[in-house]
Amino acid sequence: MSEPYYDVIRPHGGVLVDRVLRGEVRDAVRERAEGMLKIPLNKMNLSDLELLAVGAFSPLTGFMLKADYDRCVEEMRLANGLVWSIPVTLAVEQEVADRVQEGREVALCEGERVLAVMEVMEKYPYDRQVKEREAREVYRTTEEAHPGVARLYRQGDVLLGGDIWLVDWPGAVKTEFPELRHTPAETRRMFARRGWRSVVGFQTRNPIHRAHEYIQKTALEIVDGLFLHPLVGETKKDDIPADVRIASYQAILRDYYPADRVLLGVFPAAMRYAGPREAIFHALARKNYGCTHFIVGRDHAGVGKYYGTYDAQDIFDQFDPDEIGIVPFKFEHAFYCRKCKAIVSAKTCPHGREDWVFLSGTQVREMLERGEMLPEEFTRPEVARVLLEGVQRHRQEAHSVQTLQAQ
Ligand code: ADX
Repeated sequence: MSEPYYDVIRPHGGVLVDRVLRGEVRDAVRERAEGMLKIPLNKMNLSDLELLAVGAFSPLTGFMLKADYDRCVEEMRLANGLVWSIPVTLAVEQEVADRVQEGREVALCEGERVLAVMEVMEKYPYDRQVKEREAREVYRTTEEAHPGVARLYRQGDVLLGGDIWLVDWPGAVKTEFPELRHTPAETRRMFARRGWRSVVGFQTRNPIHRAHEYIQKTALEIVDGLFLHPLVGETKKDDIPADVRIASYQAILRDYYPADRVLLGVFPAAMRYAGPREAIFHALARKNYGCTHFIVGRDHAGVGKYYGTYDAQDIFDQFDPDEIGIVPFKFEHAFYCRKCKAIVSAKTCPHGREDWVFLSGTQVREMLERGEMLPEEFTRPEVARVLLEGVQRHRQEAHSVQTLQAQ
């Protein structure tokens, strides 16, 4: 009997992109690539390459050409009019660009290892002015204090655009959560096998807390399945490390979630911290993984005070829902109320701020670094213990490295 394949939602643009070469073709291309100019990729490029190859960024088939890049920055669309809110680009230094010829292939590498070939269809300037326009439009600020903007400014001054073909996986595919790194083709099959006809995706870069659990389970009351999809690509230094966050999810799933209604996977993308624009991008990627709905809560993908609490929800209203395809589930800021003794929001609770428990990400990190357990109102003790052990372990490892370096 053939496997069920419901395909309840079409990928963005209609076709799930697959740029992974296999078999003899792969061997031949890999061999040919040894003779090409080698371009080393940074961590974010490696994430983007993997996501492009497996179709998580469908309909993109490579790093953006200028027409796509310009329209994406200015109008949140690709040149063909499809909605796309975050540039996916490959920046190189001028000296490297000088050695690249348009129309020729280059080898994209991790260190010395060739991972992909790219036909460079265009190279185009990425000077300070262009970067500032991207910062202003995509990040809504040109301040370097914004971690996404700082990374953008650090990149090389030329963009290379063109289609990619993957011949080998980035190292992280084998070493970082290999058992949870499901591709969009796989998750689509997994959802179908479970009989889910509606699936809500959940993006996070933080350890799970009770407000997360509340919005996830509220959403699950409405749809068949929940796809927990924490981001494990590059994040800023003071975010909790991915292995600790994943362990926090595994701890809570064991005891508090129905196994047949939840799937845990990891999203290899790098965090941009672009708030509203990134919420659209996160939603479109999850549509490619086969989700029909996507949770957007308070200050989604935000950082500091750069975005309003619900900007990432409001941005969806700028588009016809059919253009986005995946349905946003918009949630109010949720928190614990001491009088209700439950997670609530201003929509559901009659009490006031004095009864509500708020803990910021910074406070959580500081408590864990001081070795303190997080309060039960904030997160379940099973989770708090995993977080405490994980953060302390990372601290000790960092301390050992520092001691070794000082010797
Ligand atoms: S991020 O990827 O969006 O930066 P984070 O873990 O902070 O990660 O949030 C994950 C999702 O949960 C986002 O959609 C966010 O808006 C939502 N969220 C986080 N905390 C709350 C909360 N207390 N109330 C409502 N939504 C929340």
